[in-house]
Amino acid sequence: ERVVILGVPMDLGAGRRGVDMGPSALRYARLAEELEALGLAVEDLGDVRVPVAETLRRKGLRFGGQNYLEEIRQAALELKERLRSLPEGVFPIVLGGDHSLSMGSVSGVAKEPLGVVWVDAHADFNTPETSPSGNIHGMPLAVLCGLGHPRLTEAFQAVDPKRVVLVGVRSLDPGERRLLREMGVTVYTMHEVDRLGVARIAEEVLERLAGLPLHVSLDADVLDPALAPGVGTPVPGGLSYREAHLLMEILAQSGRVRSLDLVEVNPILDEKNRTAEMMVGLALSLLGKRIL
Ligand code: ARG
Ligand code: MN
Ligand code: MN
Ligand code: MN
Repeated sequence: ERVVILGVPMDLGAGRRGVDMGPSALRYARLAEELEALGLAVEDLGDVRVPVAETLRRKGLRFGGQNYLEEIRQAALELKERLRSLPEGVFPIVLGGDHSLSMGSVSGVAKEPLGVVWVDAHADFNTPETSPSGNIHGMPLAVLCGLGHPRLTEAFQAVDPKRVVLVGVRSLDPGERRLLREMGVTVYTMHEVDRLGVARIAEEVLERLAGLPLHVSLDADVLDPALAPGVGTPVPGGLSYREAHLLMEILAQSGRVRSLDLVEVNPILDEKNRTAEMMVGLALSLLGKRIL
């Protein structure tokens, strides 16, 4: 199997700086080498162009918030086009960068109907009207489902909300709760993780998205902050090491996962790159690494 790696060094959608260094941290954590050790053919295609925040500040645009909407749109569009142009059967891994890039990754791989497994402490289901922060990384899943700023939805709407499943959620804004319900998105919060366990949830996810190829969008903040301190929006009570791996392992065994995002790794807030290392380990499990 062939894997391509594409970085998106973007922090324009987040409220704090540093996730733009995530792609470097993930590469430094030996993502490509470890995938090759699994027997995969890996090609790193480098990074998508993203403007440096400081060059925009000079133009009077503030950091964070919707003022970066056009810049984020442009970077995500470039990502979308690059993914569109990949040959059939190649498995793309997109390295973030803040989660707004997933507007480009999901729409880029959604040539055919697909299921989205969004593994995140948050739902990223805000619109400009409901967002308390104005940060666009809190909006990409809503945009993919067709809700939000028209400049974004017209470019990136790509999935049926009934084919979206969230896992690991524990922080929702009031407007997101309402929109998720209205759109019929399936949400497994940490409450369900505790009650049902990840194995049962993973089986239900595969059942709900039966017959569809799958995209996994993995936000580092789904992990417990004790394991993954290098994130800009930590929320206590996240997935354990084994819960996260088990989820990836069961999804891998389905043979249906076609693409992956590794997002929201913030090396500035991290401890000796352990969050990036954790994310690389999860990517390996998703691509078939087994204990035995
Ligand atoms: N719900 C909050 C917001 O809209 C936090 C979103 C965090 N998103 C993320 N991709 N880390 O600002
Ligand atoms: Mn930057
Ligand atoms: Mn997210
Ligand atoms: Mn998150």
